Amino acid sequence: MPPVGLGVLLLISVSVCYWVPAGCYANGKVTKVCGSMEPHHDVHGQTAHSPYHLETNTTTFSPGESIKVILTGTSFFEGFLLQARDAANQGSVTTVGTFTLTNRNKAQLLTCNKHQDSAVSHTSNARQTEVCVIWNAPADAPKQVQFFVSVVTHYNVFWVKLPGPVIYQHGVAPHPPQSDTTPPPVQPTTTPTILTGQINILNLRHFSLQSVIFELSGPAEGYIAFALSWDTWMGNDDVYMCVKDGDRVSVSAAFVSGRTHPEDQSQFGLSSVLWRLADGAIQCRFSRPVKLVNQEAARYDLDQDYFLFLTNGHAQYGKVWKHSHQPLISTHNKRITGPPEVLRGSRGPIIMKMHGALMLLAWMLTGSVGTVIASFYKPDWPNQTLLGQKVWFQVHRGLMVLTVTLTIVAFCLPFFYRKGWSKHAGVHPYLGCCVLTLSLIQPTMAAIRPSADSHRRYIFNWAHWGIGSVTEIMAVAAMFLGIRQSSLPLPQPWATHVLIGYVTWLASFRIEGAAMYLCVTLTVVCLTNSNGVS
Ligand SMILES: *[C@@H]1O[C@H](CO)[C@@H](O)[C@H](O)[C@H]1NC(C)=O
Repeated sequence: MPPVGLGVLLLISVSVCYWVPAGCYANGKVTKVCGSMEPHHDVHGQTAHSPYHLETNTTTFSPGESIKVILTGTSFFEGFLLQARDAANQGSVTTVGTFTLTNRNKAQLLTCNKHQDSAVSHTSNARQTEVCVIWNAPADAPKQVQFFVSVVTHYNVFWVKLPGPVIYQHGVAPHPPQSDTTPPPVQPTTTPTILTGQINILNLRHFSLQSVIFELSGPAEGYIAFALSWDTWMGNDDVYMCVKDGDRVSVSAAFVSGRTHPEDQSQFGLSSVLWRLADGAIQCRFSRPVKLVNQEAARYDLDQDYFLFLTNGHAQYGKVWKHSHQPLISTHNKRITGPPEVLRGSRGPIIMKMHGALMLLAWMLTGSVGTVIASFYKPDWPNQTLLGQKVWFQVHRGLMVLTVTLTIVAFCLPFFYRKGWSKHAGVHPYLGCCVLTLSLIQPTMAAIRPSADSHRRYIFNWAHWGIGSVTEIMAVAAMFLGIRQSSLPLPQPWATHVLIGYVTWLASFRIEGAAMYLCVTLTVVCLTNSNGVS
């Protein structure tokens, strides 16, 4: 069987011949490659999102029907191996149906598992970006058929067994809405559920009780995505993405296990995929059965309550980057198949807003007023006491205790939110730790300070003032970094301008205050002196 040997030889490329010289032509190798679809190079296949896309001209079929299958790439490829398999039996390596070529120069038919014409591969390593073949559904076709392709970009850059579209046999659940044998498209049983951001829109409609149509639109700078989540934290989420890749959009589902890149990207379970790229926006639409029988794919059932996440970000060669700001998260969880509703969402988790608000309150108000009191108001109310202490001291101590308390409470909140240390927050959390430590040293030191007439009292005075100033400066730095954190979405650069204005005002007030205090003192001294002279 020379064609088989040739196809496999080209697919598995020269390196295999180098490692296993006899293997290239051995018949046993053919079956092995057909099953695993792995080119067996001395390197692993790529795991990043591929620049290749597999498409069919229909999502439903009848036995005996011909279906067009198109492999396209935004980047060229030198080799490929295409097969159709039973989607419901992913463990099986058995190929389904046969292929017919549309261009004999670009592709050739292979015999996989003794099943003639059941796979297609390239004819040479000439670079190409599109291949079109016809798949013929067999009489005994399974209910769901999925196409898979391994693509070799060049020698050791290749993707193994990329999942392509799933097509469903007519009259077999799940019914895609445009199916010929199902009744005419059912009107949505309910009006849509919509979650809108300023720019992103997620629209869910359920046709019948078996599948849900998702419509998503947003800026075309890279990708738009939504996730079904059990909680309001990223991790363990079922994610659906529409990724711009050149002038195409690839629609896929994936799983996010932590604050990490989406895994297991595939089109499994998605049907009636439509997309449009126009006017600076991506629009995409797909349908998904409420329940997916195949649990390998880890798709969540749609008849449960989920928080909805909506986000967008940059993508390059079809690979998604981290979203540029916090996702829009619905305020409550929503049953996807439940009654219609316009959901509200927020990008700023309330707990992080509290952290910001309490810290700003502590360091812009109570802390700075408490410091100013101790700096300039000591001579005021010299004869009055409040609860047995000087007035300035009581106010200063009260405000500073409040500042430290607010700092401790606010400090803990991000740890509740992140459930640990945030690796993405830069220097801000380190500054926060320093501020908290110094804030705890201050009252401790004040509690054990030497008495006012002690000859060592000046050490305390300087240390208390010094540490207080360092803490305040660090707190200001932490605030500047904090208001830029993605989890506290404040309008920039306005938030920074406001903070700069505040700090400048505070500093000038200090300087002015010191100057005024000096003037007042000098005037009083002068007056006292002149009175004495006269
Ligand atoms: C898909 O393409 C095949 C082959 O060109 C054709 O026979 C079939 O009618 C097409 N199906 C649809 C739904 O357009």
